[in-house]
Amino acid sequence: MSFRDKVAIVTGAASGMGLLSAQELSRDGARVVLADVNAEAVEAAAEGIRGNGNEAIGLTVDVRRYDQVKRAADMALTTFGRIDILLNFAGGAETRVCRCPKPFHELPVEVIDWGLDVNLKGTVYFCHAVLGAMIRQKSGVIVNLGSVSGIEGAAGAVNYSAAKSGIIGLTKSLALAGAPHGVRACCVSPGPVLTRPAMANMKTRLGRAAEPKEIVDLILYLCSEKAAFITGSNYIIDGGRTCGAMD
Ligand SMILES: NC(=O)c1ccc[n+]([C@@H]2O[C@H](COP(=O)([O-])OP(=O)(O)OC[C@H]3O[C@@H](n4cnc5c(N)ncnc54)[C@H](O)[C@@H]3O)[C@@H](O)[C@H]2O)c1
Repeated sequence: MSFRDKVAIVTGAASGMGLLSAQELSRDGARVVLADVNAEAVEAAAEGIRGNGNEAIGLTVDVRRYDQVKRAADMALTTFGRIDILLNFAGGAETRVCRCPKPFHELPVEVIDWGLDVNLKGTVYFCHAVLGAMIRQKSGVIVNLGSVSGIEGAAGAVNYSAAKSGIIGLTKSLALAGAPHGVRACCVSPGPVLTRPAMANMKTRLGRAAEPKEIVDLILYLCSEKAAFITGSNYIIDGGRTCGAMD
């Protein structure tokens, strides 16, 4: 798949699937804006892409801050002139990221806010910041990251699950808003992915977790011209985990 002359913004691009997607998109010809709250890691990631002779900018962005999100979208437009692709990876389970493994009813409100704000509000903010440019171009594709937790629930990550369910509704609404203007929106809801070794403990029907590239391959397909008829859909990619009940 060629992404020559395309401009992509990737959030959560300092690590995991966001980083891999930014690397793969740039390898296939895209100019990439990497956005992440981890300043050092996102600059190193962009530097790595530039080191391979491709165009990339690394920006420190907290997706919970609309001013920072807007600045990233504006920077993409002023530097590269357009925004063709937005991948919203920034996120994670609040109990893990905030190191607060308590039951929901004992979580401090700051942890609740982290789960909802990073996973859902940050995604809404970035979609809002880029959609106008995509509509003016009459083209563009947004891929949002859901999770099987947004489908089956997770007692240990209630806010994360709520946010990831919300992202499915967000994506359908964006698809409806964007369709008359040639803008597509899709959601990808993975099961366990080996961006962390602990994900190997989460069961699937296939008896393993996914390699990050298996998820990124689907996402890049959805961004490509081959997926021109796909919008509004949520793609569960979970090794069969949600086919019937699993322990
Ligand atoms: N790994 C899995 O098993 C799995 C399963 C289902 C869904 N997902 C989803 O896929 C996405 C990527 O997962 P991953 O495992 O590659 O993640 P990861 O933890 O490797 O990367 C997440 C990135 O988001 C960044 N981030 C966190 N808070 C931020 C903020 N406020 N502003 C900007 N950036 C912020 C982090 O710095 C990090 O670089 C997430 O949305 C996650 O919920 C992952």
